[in-house]
Amino acid sequence: MTLEIAVLPGDGIGPEVTEEAIKVLKAIAMNFDHKFRFTYADVGAIAIDKQNNPLPEKTLELCKSSHAVLFGAIGDPKYDNDPTAKIRPEQGLLKLRKELGLFANIRPVKAYKTLLDKSPLRKKIIKGTDISIYRELTGGLYFGKKTLSDDGNTASDLCTYSRHEIERIAHLAFKAAQARQNKVTLVDKANVLESSRLWRKVVTEVGKSYEDVTLEFLFVDNAAMQMILNPNQFDVILTENLFGDIISDEASVIGGSIGLLASASIGEKYALFEPIHGSYPQAKGQGIANPVASILSAAMLLDHFELFEEANRIRQAVDKSLELQITTPDLNQKYDNVTTSKVGDFIEDFINNPEDSNLNFSNIYLGQSTII
Ligand code: IPM
Ligand code: MN
Repeated sequence: MTLEIAVLPGDGIGPEVTEEAIKVLKAIAMNFDHKFRFTYADVGAIAIDKQNNPLPEKTLELCKSSHAVLFGAIGDPKYDNDPTAKIRPEQGLLKLRKELGLFANIRPVKAYKTLLDKSPLRKKIIKGTDISIYRELTGGLYFGKKTLSDDGNTASDLCTYSRHEIERIAHLAFKAAQARQNKVTLVDKANVLESSRLWRKVVTEVGKSYEDVTLEFLFVDNAAMQMILNPNQFDVILTENLFGDIISDEASVIGGSIGLLASASIGEKYALFEPIHGSYPQAKGQGIANPVASILSAAMLLDHFELFEEANRIRQAVDKSLELQITTPDLNQKYDNVTTSKVGDFIEDFINNPEDSNLNFSNIYLGQSTII
């Protein structure tokens, strides 16, 4: 298969983790006889610095003419600490999501057996957790009308949803549940918000066409608590934009590090793949950023094109790296100096030699002999 992939590394640690995902995709292309072509473009703070625009027209055009987008991260403290800034890096990502019509953001959350004691939560609580969060991505408070009064003392953000916006992601969530544990939990605030009541009504209606799927409802405040009390009760979580943003960061604690969580953002025509973590500017250039979320996002990209064997090869390699503790410091590494690129090298190596039981993977990491 030939794929044109637009690469938008963005800010902070975005470029370094994205580079590892590309390394891994190149290994997949070589081993499975595919052709992946990578074309780079700017987005976020770096695009503001260079072109005074967080999403330059050329970047958007590239994304629209590619099969998929691989996204790094955006954000820079110089904007975070300045609420008056009119141009912000985040606008680049939000505009991109809107322009590409990426209405469904899928965020898998899993407790890896080998990482059970890396989470601050108790093992017996998180063991076996496997959740797929379906976060609506182009509506709600993020995109509703915003106002700021002339005197600067009153502000508002409107949360709007239409039946159509709810239906299309609900169908995806129910279909996903059918291939999993047949359960959808709608997370909302229907006891207070009119928009949430519309979500409940529409999702209940959509659910009628999926008789084999159980539909449950949870208010978001309770869901936030349940997520860390008993995450095993969840299969597919369906929710609106802001609740999904918050719940998914919370859920990352289950896996032991936000540096592990990948995502796919899907629309009718386009698809974008990005880690859920931010630009982590303090870590930029230090080689300590965990590339696994970006690498697993690349696996989701392959899934999207039905390259399941290839995607699974990446996941196997990631599992192996976690099992052998070839990890960056966010996961309390066993070895010193396992940098971002060393993790990528290991995963690349495993993809090239998955069957070779003679390989001593710890030695590969140490750069010592590979064959015993
Ligand atoms: C995410 C991020 C973004 C969001 C920011 C960077 C705008 O936190 O993808 O979760 O809030 O959607
Ligand atoms: Mn977020």
